[in-house]
Amino acid sequence: MSKADREGYLRATAEAGPATPMGGQKVPPFVLIIFGASGDLAQRKLIPALWQLHCHQRLPQDYAVVGFARSNLSREDFQDKMRQASMGDDGQAPCDEQSWGKFAEHLHYIRGQYDAGDDFDRLDDFCDSIVSPQGQDGPAARIFYLSTPPSAYQLIVEQAGRLHRKRGDDFGPQVARQTDRIVIEKPHGTSLDEARRLDGQLAEHFHERAIFRIDHYLGKETVQNILILRFANAIFEPLWNRQHIDYVEISATETGGVGSRGGFYEQSGALRDMVQMHLLHLAALVAMEQPASFAADDVRDEKAKILRMLRPITADMVDAETVRGQYGPGQVEGQTLPGYRQEEGVDDGSNVETFAAMRAYFDNWRWQGVPFYLRTGKRLDRKATEIAVHFRSVPTCLFGDRRLCARLEPNVLVLRVQPREGVHLSIASKVPGEGMNVGGVKLDFDYAEVFGRQPAEAYETLLLDIINGDPSLFARRDQVELSWQFVEPILHAWAADPAKEFPNYEAGSPGPKAANRLLSQYGHAWHRHSR
Ligand code: BG6
Repeated sequence: MSKADREGYLRATAEAGPATPMGGQKVPPFVLIIFGASGDLAQRKLIPALWQLHCHQRLPQDYAVVGFARSNLSREDFQDKMRQASMGDDGQAPCDEQSWGKFAEHLHYIRGQYDAGDDFDRLDDFCDSIVSPQGQDGPAARIFYLSTPPSAYQLIVEQAGRLHRKRGDDFGPQVARQTDRIVIEKPHGTSLDEARRLDGQLAEHFHERAIFRIDHYLGKETVQNILILRFANAIFEPLWNRQHIDYVEISATETGGVGSRGGFYEQSGALRDMVQMHLLHLAALVAMEQPASFAADDVRDEKAKILRMLRPITADMVDAETVRGQYGPGQVEGQTLPGYRQEEGVDDGSNVETFAAMRAYFDNWRWQGVPFYLRTGKRLDRKATEIAVHFRSVPTCLFGDRRLCARLEPNVLVLRVQPREGVHLSIASKVPGEGMNVGGVKLDFDYAEVFGRQPAEAYETLLLDIINGDPSLFARRDQVELSWQFVEPILHAWAADPAKEFPNYEAGSPGPKAANRLLSQYGHAWHRHSR
């Protein structure tokens, strides 16, 4: 790309305004209450993302972040703790370190119990005292962010719902409805029944548009780019169907193990943790029809529609259509890594899967017969999230030479979600020199290279959308329930028939061999992750 082209791109991004799907609007004043503020998520993701937004002047003058948790901390303790945690493992601040002081002025802490109404009343009064509910720039948004273990959700939703009603009485139902939001972190229940119970309770207190169910994958820049790529370019959509596409892969592999989250993971496993929301929602974005507009509900309607077309994997199909795995000990760069069963908080006879792969189908005219392979796992040989769209082979080979024809590889379009965010398309090209020799080459778009900066962290995008009240990138109730409906028969079948071969892959390896057979029996193969 020439210097002029790059400058053009950068100008275009600068002119694009706030990084929200709706774009352009002024960020309202807000109070963000983080329940479970002394926990891991707040420290690793939320506060660093807010600090970044503050640094990039994406937040209004008038805002406050109030940590609410059971730990006995002073405001200064809380600020120090958040600062230290924000520095990350490498000791690097997420943005200009000098800006911390100004940012910290917006951080507050209230100690309280989740079942104590009085503590919530105190919280409510405090919030009103630091950011006026109806300031010069319009009504302030009040955001209840649940960053606690799911066991605390019920109590907090009850109390937050009470404060929401009270705000309706004080400032008018219209204002409360427009400005209050409740944010729920993953996992959204651990089963369809639980998800329905939680949704039912949320619906008693909040309007669906005020409920923000986080799937942080949807906040990743290249995930949002799927729709732009498909619908803002004329060359892909005509080919985006069973006539031209052979199969699609959606793969999120990780090198890390479960770390300190063994206790949580024992209740979850890879299918609940990664497939139920992250991978199925990526698949929906690849497979859905064009929405009527980019407005939140138009996009979410199309996603729900395509999820409804997922062919169920019933108990009798589970063995043929799915693969599960669990990592055992392994060697990585001369270091011995423990197996899953040796991790802290994990039962030494655990049958929980740390790897899951499956073949899924969408039963509609566009996708009939096209397998969507989904794969995820911990302690694999690479950390990468990619969507690979494999096109069909050329119908005839005109070179007459069998060896040459065998070397013609079908085109693959790869959307790299992470790392090295970008898109590439593999095509066949003549190898320079005498004679006819064909080789595969890549047309490569690298996000950081073209735009001269790394894409924003998912939590920055999502937090800004929550503050702006834009639910486009958040899961709607029907979508969550549809994805539970799809994974539940698999979960039940796996629970009823514990794996005898666990552990079945070594830490640091590409995963269980059966995951390769899932594809090779159809003449397909996992695309080799881009380096
Ligand atoms: C989370 C899962 O939702 O996503 C984790 O609970 C997983 O187990 C993480 O490690 C992966 O996220 P990312 O953004 O690093 O791919």
